[in-house]
Amino acid sequence: MQAEEVRKAGVVGYGLMGSGIAEVLAGAGIEVAVLEPTEALLATGRERIEASTARAVARGKMDEADCAALLERVHGTTEAGGFADVDLVVEAATEDEPAKVAIFRSLDEVTKPEVVLASNTSSIPIATLAAATARPDRVIGLHFFNPPPVMRLIEVTPSILTSDETVAFARAFGERLGKTTVLAKDQAGFIVNRLLIPYLCDAIRLLDDGFATREDIDTSIELGLNNPLGPLRLADLIGLDTVLQIAETLHREFRDPRYAPPPLLRRMVAAGRLGRKSGGGFYED
Ligand code: 3HC
Repeated sequence: MQAEEVRKAGVVGYGLMGSGIAEVLAGAGIEVAVLEPTEALLATGRERIEASTARAVARGKMDEADCAALLERVHGTTEAGGFADVDLVVEAATEDEPAKVAIFRSLDEVTKPEVVLASNTSSIPIATLAAATARPDRVIGLHFFNPPPVMRLIEVTPSILTSDETVAFARAFGERLGKTTVLAKDQAGFIVNRLLIPYLCDAIRLLDDGFATREDIDTSIELGLNNPLGPLRLADLIGLDTVLQIAETLHREFRDPRYAPPPLLRRMVAAGRLGRKSGGGFYED
């Protein structure tokens, strides 16, 4: 199948990334079925898409009619069987390896055998997910950035089992979505998180050491380097639980102390201070 022939896609997970990815796919004219185990999770995901598209309308990025049509293309389902007729799947469940392996096993059973199964993982080996299926050549990483409707990059990450045809399809599909794609090896963190996570961990260490205030750390990067967000605000945006999971995976993969999660990050997560999605992290909002 060619990228432009994808008519319907499945998205696994209606969280921060899943809802954003569903929005991007629907915005490109694709019907989207989003899978979550409960109606309550589907309702929360739907609210996320509605809030995000309302913001796009308010900022003049989309008109009301396109917004309504986009929302009509997105449907929730609690049954994996809802993926029987999809042309592509993007999995965006939480970064938990056994859970993702189980999801890929089930996706392999319910989807047509020729369908490409992509994962939005930023740290779990694509080869591990591929090995859970009978189509390892059609399993690939498609790593979006938060928030997906705004961020212009997708990292395309083939495993050692992925075919060249699947890589070409994934890159063409990313371009169909209006994104720029880069190719990275199937190693934890790919390009962006391999560089980003040590930087975020260092910022948290500076804060924990009392070296500078959270505002001064963030202001330094925002004004000194012209980045839209300083590292502590960015960690809050990503979700501190996600930052911790990625740091742990990088540390396991490379055994390099640069990736070791700082104690304050662990304590924030233990305390339920997960960032914006939980009502507060390093900052209250
Ligand atoms: N569709 C299209 N455009 C949208 C939109 C939507 N649903 N929602 C918002 N926008 C547009 C707005 O119109 C606005 O555009 P404009 O500046 O041209 O008017 C722009 O996006 C910004 O929107 P907001 O004004 O609502 O929000 P902010 O100005 O506060 O910016 C931000 C928010 C874009 C998130 C900005 O803070 C930013 O760029 N932050 C850095 C984000 C980042 O680094 N993300 C990567 C995280 S790492 C990651 O994801 C990897 C993972 O594995 C950890």
